[in-house]
Amino acid sequence: MSKVQRRSRAWFGRADKNGFIHRSWMKNQGFPDHLFDGRPVIGIANTYSELTPCNAHFKELVEWVKRGVYEAGGFPLEFPVFSNGESNLRPTSMLYRNLAAMTVEEAIRGNPIDGVVLCTGCDKTTPALLMGAASCDVPAIVLSGGPMLAGNYKGQPIGSGTDLFRFAEAVKAGTMTLAEFLEAESCMSRSAGHCMTMGTASTMNALAEAMGLSLPGSAAVPAVDARRRVNAYLTGMRAVGLVEEDMRISKILTRAAFENAIRTCAALGGSTNAVIHLIAIAGRLGVPLTLEDWDELGRGVPTLVDLKPSGRFLAEDLFYAGGLPAVLRRLSEHGLLHDHALTVNGKTIGENVKNAPCWNDEVIRPWDRPVVAEGGIVVLRGNLAPDGAVLKPSAASPHLLRHTGRAVVFETIEHYRARIEDPALEVDENSVLVLKNCGPKGYPGMAEVGNMGLPPKLLKRGITDMVRISDARMSGTAYGTVVLHVAPEAAVGGPLALVRDGDRIALDVPARRLELHVPEEELARRRAMWTPPPPAMHSGYWKLFHDHVLQADRGCDFDFLLGCRGAAVPRDSH
Ligand code: FES
Repeated sequence: MSKVQRRSRAWFGRADKNGFIHRSWMKNQGFPDHLFDGRPVIGIANTYSELTPCNAHFKELVEWVKRGVYEAGGFPLEFPVFSNGESNLRPTSMLYRNLAAMTVEEAIRGNPIDGVVLCTGCDKTTPALLMGAASCDVPAIVLSGGPMLAGNYKGQPIGSGTDLFRFAEAVKAGTMTLAEFLEAESCMSRSAGHCMTMGTASTMNALAEAMGLSLPGSAAVPAVDARRRVNAYLTGMRAVGLVEEDMRISKILTRAAFENAIRTCAALGGSTNAVIHLIAIAGRLGVPLTLEDWDELGRGVPTLVDLKPSGRFLAEDLFYAGGLPAVLRRLSEHGLLHDHALTVNGKTIGENVKNAPCWNDEVIRPWDRPVVAEGGIVVLRGNLAPDGAVLKPSAASPHLLRHTGRAVVFETIEHYRARIEDPALEVDENSVLVLKNCGPKGYPGMAEVGNMGLPPKLLKRGITDMVRISDARMSGTAYGTVVLHVAPEAAVGGPLALVRDGDRIALDVPARRLELHVPEEELARRRAMWTPPPPAMHSGYWKLFHDHVLQADRGCDFDFLLGCRGAAVPRDSH
């Protein structure tokens, strides 16, 4: 028994009226006396929802977590948290990441919970649960739901999101019929689980493992593989051990763990969304992490994992090839992993991966034959993005990494949609598409519209990529030479707000520059004429979001949620 006083004893360990209340009402569920004897109470934060299809199988999967908790001598108690799924939630699930994090944090702190299993999967569910648990600093372990099986259409593998973008453009270009397009729906999403490309879900769950928060080898196990249940079972068992050892999340999520995650993201060709989420998670723990860390730590790290959207394969292939441990071993052998970082199984990450096998060098490439030599996420600065912008070179076209072109400007996403298909639009393949007012406050929620589709008239000519710049995000399953997260955003008066049709914009990825070639006097004139767009809503959660969300370079958390508030037991209500 740990010397640390367990939180749950403040509820269940009392012989007075309040203890009676806490135990008696719980017993209406059939829990016997002995479960209240001081054993670790393990909360299971369940993101199950039929509206979050990527996490819907947690309804069943948590039963295996409970078996593991019971076997290890704990008392599992499942609770729901706000489930922010990517495919249904409008205007964007990112608008609700912080809300979900708040529900996790407050549910943990307000209840008799000693340690927590975080059920993660769909894109924003993972950072939301990590942020919430981090602000409480309780022992925590991540159980991801696992990726879907590989899609297959007309005998060819197809990947979540990535091939959807391709198909949608093929329909516009007239090379795919609408009937074929609709037929592909069922072929793409054919099992439980999250997107099986290296999108944000696969990235964030892999990074949770790289940071030591989930059991080794767990991130890539397909959702419907029996070993996903085994993983859930063992995760439940280990949650009890974490409480007994008082292994709080802050002991795992150190600066070294975040550095490991950034380099792992480069090796995976992971999603640009990870930049925002990791900065937000670090902010909850007071671990310093900046955009510059992303650029500096990612330099020299090749993308080894050949998964769509940057490569050829899908998550199932990564699992068969050895999963994340094989990738981490390669980083470790090249001195790019902090081997000493602790993980939830009680061992260091170096110990966990030192003998990890790789079964397929095509899926997890050797160091001297990478998918992309420089896999890190690039941070750009210049007069168009004084506080930074990001670009994922592994998803970009090499010939566009140094490019100057004339701007074609869309003031909002609606303006883009109304204009992009106009045959009279003055645009060619050298133009730079600029989208404004899609940042954290402008959209609101910073939607994944940064990889705006190309004008149909250029698609029909076989053009497949152009430089695109916005204050929006991009789906991790997307690709292209896309500059994202421009900060400050247009809606708060960032220089992006001042760009006009025909302005010359220079992108220089090797030099990390993004410049608007307009004289300063002209910019000052435009600035004087600029007025902020009105907020999308004047009350409710949207107002809270608008008033408090931080810019992309600071992780889009709410200003009042930064930091760790701990899990001191709140006063009793009875
Ligand atoms: Fe849920 Fe992609 S839509 S992970």
